[in-house]
Amino acid sequence: MELRIDRGAPRPIYQQISQFYRTRILQGALPPGFLLPPERTLARSLGVNRTTVMNAYAELKADRLVRGRVGHGTRVLPTSRDLPPRPREIAPLRWSDLARPSDAARDQELHDLLALSESRDTILLSLGFPAPELIPRQLLDDAVATVLRDRGPGAYFYGPAEGVTSFREALGDLMSARGVVCGADEILVTSGSQQALDLLARALIEPGDTVVVEEPTYLGALHVFRTARARLVTVPVDADGLSVDHLEHVLTRCQPKFVYTLPTYQNPSGALMSPRRRAQLLALAYRFGIPIVEDDIYGDLWYDQAPPPSLRALDRHGYVIYTSSFSKILAPGLRVGWISGPRAIVRRLVQVKQAADLQASTLSQMIVEQLLRSGGYARHAAAVRSRYAARRDAMESALRKRARGWAEWNRPGGGFYFWCRVTAPVPIGVLTAAAAQRDVSILPGAACLAEESADAHIRLSFSFAGVEEIAEGIAHLTAAVRHASGRVRPSERQPVATRPLI
Ligand SMILES: Cc1ncc(COP(=O)(O)O)c(C=O)c1O
Repeated sequence: MELRIDRGAPRPIYQQISQFYRTRILQGALPPGFLLPPERTLARSLGVNRTTVMNAYAELKADRLVRGRVGHGTRVLPTSRDLPPRPREIAPLRWSDLARPSDAARDQELHDLLALSESRDTILLSLGFPAPELIPRQLLDDAVATVLRDRGPGAYFYGPAEGVTSFREALGDLMSARGVVCGADEILVTSGSQQALDLLARALIEPGDTVVVEEPTYLGALHVFRTARARLVTVPVDADGLSVDHLEHVLTRCQPKFVYTLPTYQNPSGALMSPRRRAQLLALAYRFGIPIVEDDIYGDLWYDQAPPPSLRALDRHGYVIYTSSFSKILAPGLRVGWISGPRAIVRRLVQVKQAADLQASTLSQMIVEQLLRSGGYARHAAAVRSRYAARRDAMESALRKRARGWAEWNRPGGGFYFWCRVTAPVPIGVLTAAAAQRDVSILPGAACLAEESADAHIRLSFSFAGVEEIAEGIAHLTAAVRHASGRVRPSERQPVATRPLI
């Protein structure tokens, strides 16, 4: 047992010393009463300053592991707790007390939504999942066969934490087609864009830090930022995207870690940020020195015309971190997403990714690479655009036919969602339950809000259900509204939404 210090290590020397003694005291190798070497002697033998040893011993004292008395040296203290008596019965361990606190109700919401994917009898208008029948089975099967033939067992092996190099190069090409010049070293492959958000939160957020989110926003992002114990400050979204006027006010009063935005076919509002807003948002970011996290998962899902360039494409000063994924167009089960950002932050995120799960699935990365290089991805994206456009139109005409008396909505130009303001006097909870009784699932708008408050919105997704199911679902939902409105007591009436949103 010899204390050896490493002068090249990032950890300061006094901590190396305290760590050495801490471990041995806790393991019992140094028993109570054991006398630690005098500070001067230890300093001399290690060739360090005496203050370094004093700082190390001060840490051990603060941890109540040793006590120092003038003239008596520094001794190991007795253990602070006695061994508990052997119990007759083993008490159940209270795991819920051990785990870090969570927002149980909110966490459950996300969990229940994912679980709905296995439901067979319900018309799912709540889910932002791609349609199972639009997953390109043949294309994927062929890509798997090609990858296994051409890349052999390597497809089943570990790869670099930042992602398979050739795949990142292919992603670089995809990014340049999206107007972003970015090398492979500015890209990190993630297990879906959900993980991209989680890695960003782990790398950037300290508990209590402020993060600006749109109101409403993607509920999975709220989950991540809350888990990181961020303080969430909201900025409303209107038909042109995030309100830069509100953001400017926020930025004059606080210094958030970043602004999280979905400029292109926002989840849930469907809003598309105008080119003018994009420029204004970047100008604000530069003025206040605030990074922007741009979630562009729906960018390729446009139905009328292609969206304006992404914030990352417009950014000339390295302020934007961009995330996207193949979940919505190819298959969510592949779990392939990516981050594109300035080199310095990508390097840091690679370390965080490594700690989280070493790397994204090698096989999945190679499958997607094959589809990018063969042109299969681009062809499939064009094909699904028209299929989802038909579903969007089906939902719009069903709403026009049935919901004019009880809801208001905007036609989304892309993405998967209608964000409906319910004008009928029904609390959303009551409506959700009444819809569920008619085998229709909808997402209460409150799930997408960072601030708890009465809200009159629901999110209706047109991606998962087919054209006929969508019409049927809206008919059932309308019946649910009628039924619920008739049963609501005046005191339960839905408050008029305070958020004009869109
Ligand atoms: C806006 C947004 N970001 C991220 C995700 C996460 O997607 P994935 O992790 O499957 O890439 C979703 C999924 O619905 C989403 O809507």
